[in-house]
Amino acid sequence: MKVDVILGLQWGDEGKGKIVDFLADKYEIIARFQGGPNAGHTLVINGTKRVLHTIPSGIFREGCMNLIGNGVVIDPITLLKEINTLKADGIPVEDRLIIAKRANLILPTHKILDAASETSKGNAKIGSTLKGIGPTYMDKTGRNGLRIGDILDDDFMTKYELLKNKHLSLIQIYQYDFELEDMEKEWLSAITELKKLKLVESTYYIQDQLKNGKRILAEGAQGTMLDIDFGTYPFVTSSNTISAAVCTGLGISPKEIGEVIGITKAYCTRVGSGPFPSELNDEIGEKLRTIGKEFGATTGRPRRCGWMDIPALKYACFLNGVTSLVITKMDCLQAFDTFSVAEKYVYNGKESDELPFDLCKTEITTILKDFPTWGNQEISGNNVPNEIKTFISFVEKSLNVPVEWMSFGPEREKLIHFRAGEIIA
Ligand code: GDP
Ligand code: IMO
Ligand code: MG
Repeated sequence: MKVDVILGLQWGDEGKGKIVDFLADKYEIIARFQGGPNAGHTLVINGTKRVLHTIPSGIFREGCMNLIGNGVVIDPITLLKEINTLKADGIPVEDRLIIAKRANLILPTHKILDAASETSKGNAKIGSTLKGIGPTYMDKTGRNGLRIGDILDDDFMTKYELLKNKHLSLIQIYQYDFELEDMEKEWLSAITELKKLKLVESTYYIQDQLKNGKRILAEGAQGTMLDIDFGTYPFVTSSNTISAAVCTGLGISPKEIGEVIGITKAYCTRVGSGPFPSELNDEIGEKLRTIGKEFGATTGRPRRCGWMDIPALKYACFLNGVTSLVITKMDCLQAFDTFSVAEKYVYNGKESDELPFDLCKTEITTILKDFPTWGNQEISGNNVPNEIKTFISFVEKSLNVPVEWMSFGPEREKLIHFRAGEIIA
């Protein structure tokens, strides 16, 4: 068996949670492979909205095991809150969740360092979710990190104190007031709870499951344009978000990657600072934000809105080896008579569909292509409005990848399966 992948092709919030939840019933294991509680994945099941930050989006499916992989960074406080909320709703989380011992821990002082660093940047701030992601990955690559497996060691507290004290001296380079005591207490008590969960050597677990023919779906967090290497650096997150990270974040070889399902909204959003070539700083952007309810699932911040960006999607498709596309938020376009797509960039006096090295310093304008919307026409088995067929065909031709699914609402079931622009059962 192979590991299929679902990931975001834009700046995050493409609707990964909804799509993973929907497709999860075809898989036995759903595995997060990177990122941490900076993610906010929204699922709407039977009218109830849920937001997951660290727990994979297969947790509501009976018969699905959910793995938090080694590439993820875990804040015990957030994780425990998430577990308790789900348990209160009757979800048997402990039976459905396993955690890689190699996953790195977010310490309270990582969060303080994140906030201190952002504050010191002033107007140049990244717009981080302040969940401690950057400092934790820094400690991981700097070989100072604490891992989930370490909490079982007798000398865990010694290791913790050592790292905490290192952070406390680092924080002194910033002029930043903080309060550690309460956060530390909550964190240590969450660590005690974490010990009761299934902590595993996940690489062997995954290999065994693959050998036994189990189907595995890897769930990405953030999006390709936030990738630490290939995103709009430095306005990115601190992990690789592309499909290559599935190998390092779960411990599998490239040979074991199967389908790569890329998700894009029918338009584009970004939360936080950084370049956004197709951004709409006008009433259309405002309308997209209102209609699409574009407010961060983790921080509640308003998301910046713009049109779908074909050059960025082309880049994302080849970086990830995308084999099929899901387009979400189609329903939001219905509020308009027409919508647009950024087909090409213009910079340095030339047309291009390549992202320049320094997107942050390059003045980019976009060439837009306009499309009519399909108004209130019905979309059902034998009736796909021509306007939708035209849009699908344009996207497929531009990206050279088939559009397999389109999403028409936040609810689990509001998803239509297409092949070559026709609905399939
Ligand atoms: P994720 O981080 O990629 O999982 O996405 P988020 O949950 O942060 O943001 C996506 C938002 O869009 C959530 O509020 C979803 O409930 C919502 N959503 C997903 N698909 C659709 C759709 O097709 N239409 C509408 N209107 N909302 C959607
Ligand atoms: P999901 O998985 C959207 C953005 C932040 C900020 C930058 C760095 O829900 O799609 P970080 O907290 O990683 O230091 O923030 O990345 N960001 C996201 N934007 N969706 C996310 O996750 C994001 N995770 C981080 O807003 O600009
Ligand atoms: Mg999100």
